[in-house]
Amino acid sequence: MTDRINELIAEIEAFSSRAAGEIEEFRIRMLGKKGVVTGLMEEFKTVAPEMKRTIGQKLNELKTKAQQKVNDLKTEAGAGGGAKIPRAGDMTRPGKGAAEPVGSRHPISLVRNEIVGIFDRMGYVVADGPEIEDDRHVFTALNFPPEHPARDMQDTFFVEKNPDVLLRTHTSSIQVRVMETQKPPIRVICPGRVFRNEAISYRAHCIFHQVEGLYIDEGVSFADLKQTLLHFAREMFGAETRIRLRPSYFPFTEPSAEMDVSCALCGGKGCPVCKGTGWLEIMGCGMVDPNVLEACGIDSEKYTGFAFGMGIERISMLKYGVGDLRLYFENDVRFLHQFSAAL
Ligand code: DAH
Repeated sequence: MTDRINELIAEIEAFSSRAAGEIEEFRIRMLGKKGVVTGLMEEFKTVAPEMKRTIGQKLNELKTKAQQKVNDLKTEAGAGGGAKIPRAGDMTRPGKGAAEPVGSRHPISLVRNEIVGIFDRMGYVVADGPEIEDDRHVFTALNFPPEHPARDMQDTFFVEKNPDVLLRTHTSSIQVRVMETQKPPIRVICPGRVFRNEAISYRAHCIFHQVEGLYIDEGVSFADLKQTLLHFAREMFGAETRIRLRPSYFPFTEPSAEMDVSCALCGGKGCPVCKGTGWLEIMGCGMVDPNVLEACGIDSEKYTGFAFGMGIERISMLKYGVGDLRLYFENDVRFLHQFSAAL
């Protein structure tokens, strides 16, 4: 009898199935009313008394093993096994992702990336600075006279009534931070958000974006500035684009200029967008004033440089024919979706 029990234990250990029907069959054969274990229990009654203890223990082991096996197999089969395993499904069905709406880049980001990309290819590196600034970096080091109107409460947002903690009104503050910490040659492009206390209209906003550029080395000339900006304009608005530099004034550059590009819409003939002039103003620029170089610890006898600054909204409006600046800040998906084809 011991041998038979051992054989059965081996059989139980070897048995495996994930099909619920087979497991049930196994249970009935082993543990059912007319099953093997019940039969052996009957037979046990006839075992000689001195053998009862050993055989009894074996028989119990057999019963426990059979029960354990059935329980284990049922659990496994229930946990997604056996006939319940889901089929792989129809592999030709469209993927779930295809139905998800795809986002688009904001037109300000698109134009910023494009501007940065053009200067990156000319060897400029991106520099960053804080939006909350002090007077020195926004005005004083940039040669703003004490009574300059740009310092006026009307234009500048001050933080907590402290005149030395303010939101930067232009990205030229990043120039100062770069010149204070780096030695020439310097070639940086600085995109960023700026703040001005202006009434919101179709052409002005209290928050907008600028890109600042700065190049400082020995022997940098106005001709370098002109050629760099011509290259930029052609990359940005097309190979036929012409530029025009008009004398202007900024405290931090001398000489200073404003740059116009030929109107891409009418090719310079004159249209409503360029107000009949054939030209569109896109940026300010000039040779860095020696006072600015000295204020930032750069020897103005040895080094010269040029700087330029432009508004990203303005360029984006011209490029995409957007007539109202406020659209950039409203996050209306009907507006934003129109840029989903651009990268
Ligand atoms: N910071 C000027 C502004 O906000 C733009 C500008 C003009 C930047 C001339 C420059 C520059 O670097 O040379 O209007």
